[in-house]
Amino acid sequence: MGSETENQYFLKAVEAFKRRFVVISPEHIILAVNDPGEGLDHSSVIGKICHQVFYNRPEPCLPCPIQKSKETGRPALQPKTGDYTDPAEIPCLYVYPIFNQNSQDNSIEAFVSLDFDLSTRGEFEDKAQSSNAFLRNLILSAVDGVIAADKKGRILIFNDMAAELFGYSVEEAMESLDIRDIYPDHKELEVMKALRSDDYGGRGKLRSYEVEVLHKNGEHIPINLNASIVYEGDREVATIGFFHDQRGINRMKAELEKTQMQLLQSEKMASLGKLAAGVAHQLNNPLSGITLFTKLVLEEYNLEEGAQKDLFRVMEDAERCRDTVKELLEFARQTKHIRRPHDINRAISRTLFLLENQSLFQNIIIEKELDPTLPPVHSDIQQLNHMFMNIILNAAQAMEGKGRLQIKTLFLPEKEQVRIEISDTGPGIPDEILSHIFDPFFTTKQEGEGTGLGLSLVYGIVQNQGGEIKARNLPGEGATFIIDLPIMPKDDGGSRSE
Ligand SMILES: Nc1ncnc2c1ncn2[C@@H]1O[C@H](COP(=O)(O)OP(=O)(O)OP(=O)(O)O)[C@@H](O)[C@H]1O
Ligand SMILES: [Mg+2]
Repeated sequence: MGSETENQYFLKAVEAFKRRFVVISPEHIILAVNDPGEGLDHSSVIGKICHQVFYNRPEPCLPCPIQKSKETGRPALQPKTGDYTDPAEIPCLYVYPIFNQNSQDNSIEAFVSLDFDLSTRGEFEDKAQSSNAFLRNLILSAVDGVIAADKKGRILIFNDMAAELFGYSVEEAMESLDIRDIYPDHKELEVMKALRSDDYGGRGKLRSYEVEVLHKNGEHIPINLNASIVYEGDREVATIGFFHDQRGINRMKAELEKTQMQLLQSEKMASLGKLAAGVAHQLNNPLSGITLFTKLVLEEYNLEEGAQKDLFRVMEDAERCRDTVKELLEFARQTKHIRRPHDINRAISRTLFLLENQSLFQNIIIEKELDPTLPPVHSDIQQLNHMFMNIILNAAQAMEGKGRLQIKTLFLPEKEQVRIEISDTGPGIPDEILSHIFDPFFTTKQEGEGTGLGLSLVYGIVQNQGGEIKARNLPGEGATFIIDLPIMPKDDGGSRSE
């Protein structure tokens, strides 16, 4: 407080004040008053209970502005009770708290209650009020969550979108939420530090700041935050933040990344296919030569039986090579993705035919249980080949070239789907990585041994077909991949399969 003279003037000013000005304790006891009211003097009012003296009520008024201010820690405005016909004439009670500056918890020491007429506020104030109301409406209906808080962390503004984003009702937030409650792990300290720094759009400003906030149910939500400190003169009085939910954008980004990865993997497979097709073409001519000339030698020369037998062996082997080359060409056929009816059993057999002579498969027992009544699937053959190739190679790699690979197909008539089960006797997929194996770039292999793109491509192919893929572990029995693919609709033009 100022000098003695200044204090005197203050007292005179309060006494000269035309409206009633009362200081009341949190227990509703009158501590000071400028005008006790008609027929009352200071001694009959001071130390008494306000609702008993002024309103002749045994209990506090309903609603009581002091009570309201006590609960919120903020000023309260309320029409005065009584018989008033013109709403503009209703006097208001305005109550504001005085905080105890000396106490540690900053508790409320007393309340100041003033009464005044709404109509005395004048036209100017009305205009200001209506433009304030417009601004307030703008904020409340913003598409981002808007939250303003005072220096103590109490919520001043909490719009409907904030309520949706954070899971608190507006009333709940206004009454009991603290701005610190909406950040996990004291992240509000980082936000305040960033706000006061020059790094994010200037001092007192925060532009496009990525942060996580905490929903009422404990969920962490990624947010793009724009915020600023509200100043009165040089004094910080509040902060206001615009919270933009990033979940939709993040989902789209992840989807895009996945598609890019799948494209990359498809390109990788396509260039491998080109290489294989090139090699196969190169082999085709000499193989035809070998077959042709062996036939000629057999026909034109009268060879002894042993030599003929050997040449037949050469013919047989050459024919086997030709079959392999044919399958390889079929496998790597460089065409656009064309959907046709395909027999899944044939696609599996073709993949196995190409793989089983590889050294990795030498000590792997392959058991096939293919349902001969399997209806065709409407699919692209290259994609089917890639799908089986990836899963079977993974199984062989997991078994480190030793074990049992089981491939089973069956028809699920009630779901109109075919099911393919591929099981191995490897170590299985550890539970903690089971939910990640279809993620692009997820691999447990050494650098250079795997890209982690195989299963993400498989997942994309199955999804494209409107199917479903699951991976499962049977303890001590390795991993099983189960793929369900819809069968070709009956009226889809053809039953021919390739
Ligand atoms: N049959 C299986 N048994 C055990 N783990 C498996 C099996 N199949 C896949 N996994 C696990 O899933 C991971 C991801 O497989 P994915 O095919 O996507 O990538 P990768 O095989 O590691 O690499 P790439 O296929 O590019 O060579 C593997 O690293 C492995 O940890
Ligand atoms: Mg793989």
